Amino acid sequence: MCGIVGYVGNKSVVDILLDGLEQLEYRGYDSSGIAVMCEEDIKVYKAVGKLQNLRDKLKGHETEFNNSTMGIGHIRWATHGAPTLLNAHPHTCNCGNLVVVHNGIIENYKELRKSLEDAGCIFRSQTDTETIAHLVARKYAQCKDLTEAVRLASEEIEGAYALCVMHNDCKNKLVITKRNAPLLIGIGDSEYFAASDVPAIIKHTNKAVYLEDNQIATLTPDSMEIIDIDKNNITPKVEVLPWEPVALSKMGYKHFMLKEIHEQPDVIRNILVGRLHAPDEEIILNEVNLNKERLRHLNRIQIIACGTSLHAAMVGKYLIESFCGIAVDVEASSEYIYRKTVTDEHTLVIGVSQSGETADTLTAIRQAKAKGSHILIITNRPDSAMAREADSLIPVNAGIEVSVAATKSYIAQLMAFYLLSLYMAEIKDSIASSTLTSLKTELMILPQKIEQILAHKENIQTVARAYANTKDFIYIARGINYPTALEGALKLKEISYINATGYPAGELKHGPIAMLDETMPVLSILMNGSVYDKLLSNSEEAKARNARMIALTNSKDEKLNELFEHIIRVPDVQELFSPIIAVIPLQLIAYYIAEFLGKDVDQPRNLAKSVTVE
Ligand code: M6R
Repeated sequence: MCGIVGYVGNKSVVDILLDGLEQLEYRGYDSSGIAVMCEEDIKVYKAVGKLQNLRDKLKGHETEFNNSTMGIGHIRWATHGAPTLLNAHPHTCNCGNLVVVHNGIIENYKELRKSLEDAGCIFRSQTDTETIAHLVARKYAQCKDLTEAVRLASEEIEGAYALCVMHNDCKNKLVITKRNAPLLIGIGDSEYFAASDVPAIIKHTNKAVYLEDNQIATLTPDSMEIIDIDKNNITPKVEVLPWEPVALSKMGYKHFMLKEIHEQPDVIRNILVGRLHAPDEEIILNEVNLNKERLRHLNRIQIIACGTSLHAAMVGKYLIESFCGIAVDVEASSEYIYRKTVTDEHTLVIGVSQSGETADTLTAIRQAKAKGSHILIITNRPDSAMAREADSLIPVNAGIEVSVAATKSYIAQLMAFYLLSLYMAEIKDSIASSTLTSLKTELMILPQKIEQILAHKENIQTVARAYANTKDFIYIARGINYPTALEGALKLKEISYINATGYPAGELKHGPIAMLDETMPVLSILMNGSVYDKLLSNSEEAKARNARMIALTNSKDEKLNELFEHIIRVPDVQELFSPIIAVIPLQLIAYYIAEFLGKDVDQPRNLAKSVTVE
């Protein structure tokens, strides 16, 4: 959460900072600010709300920073203190000579604040970040070296942080550091960039260094010097970034979310490339660094994830247990890290994360790693912190996902689980080869089936509009589509703010059925297979309580017209693949309702794309 950018070079800095922040808006958008090194001194501009408010505020000030070529910027997702102007970054020390932007959480900020206040510092905000501004300024007053001041301060700071610091005495020097928060350095021609993520710099350069925890970099237009916290010099490892700037365009779609929903057939094709050539050939998953003998005898897997990735994990459990007969536990990372977990070197621990940055999941996998478990990471960001912790890494290659609501990354994560579970089944010889061939055949034609749904999405739009004014929404399903119900409800909640809940349909009668009446829409994910009849009965029970019934189904049964007020029909598919097909209309329902209600689809309130705080 929160995004930071920094620049030192030879170009006019303000546009670079604002463009960079725009690309990081997915990390938070409560408020924003920049600090620019001007001829006389540093100038700070901040605004509450979207970045556009900052752009508006800067209009008319252009002449003040015409010749400025160094600055830092920040986009905030509030943790400590409401999203107000005073709490917006950059933060300054009392004399205004030192400015800092920060992503993360300073855990000992109360103690630091107390001792800084005792020493005479006056705090103006409620943020944890302001302590850093005062602390580094005091260190600088003692040593008169900005790099050393940042290093000394980081010895006292506990928690997670990525920092960019400037001081009026150092007209072309930017000092940056990090611990448990992402920060990379982009390398241009006589210029350096600092950013929380690749999109902020990819327009300018694809050469970068990922700063490691507790490293401190000093950047000037012509030099980059990196030391560790013990003052040892570090030789930077320069990487070539894989991202293309075009990935960040809406390509004519009204929202990134709609574009990303439409990219899903290609996302499936991409992940299959090089891994599944033909139904009668073995799956190639070289990324799994466990030898076949160990895989054959694996008897316990834990999967940890948050949000949408957790729903993918739940489908993964179903697949691995069905195909391989291995017991799988799935748990929300935020729960996993605060209890005594039973894991050891015989357990395979799978972390699932679009961003590869989610703090809860990162902490969870580090805990499991410390106990000797093999860590397999399924992520869309092979350059992320989680990827760097992995013993095995399955990159899902969905391309940059800009919309806060995850869609294509979910499909990609599901595909990773299909490949992984079938790969393990082949090694364990736990499925008949004819069944395997038929499963792989179906896997390869999933993209066409999604394309059929997308080609006829008008009906889904009509259904969405019919329920756009509801206050509550219930999704029911059973078996492998229970996670689909959770995911459909999560999508609706996060972008339309309608109270939506997913239930295993058999649980309705144990309580939730009390809520049903003619105002309550109940969407039944009624896919052909082992639980079809049971779910139909549960739908009847809901109908008998006057709920407004909607079916999402691949059944051709005409009798469904009597039970359901609206029916969304999708192409037929084997039950085990139905989560891939069923989730597409649910993503579209959420999208069309939010769009109809005029909500900020890509940047819903209170959320951020990467949740880098626990
Ligand atoms: O990057 P991750 O997959 O680890 O993120 C986990 C959740 O924060 C994320 O899935 C969140 O729930 C999305 N906004 C859902 O659309």
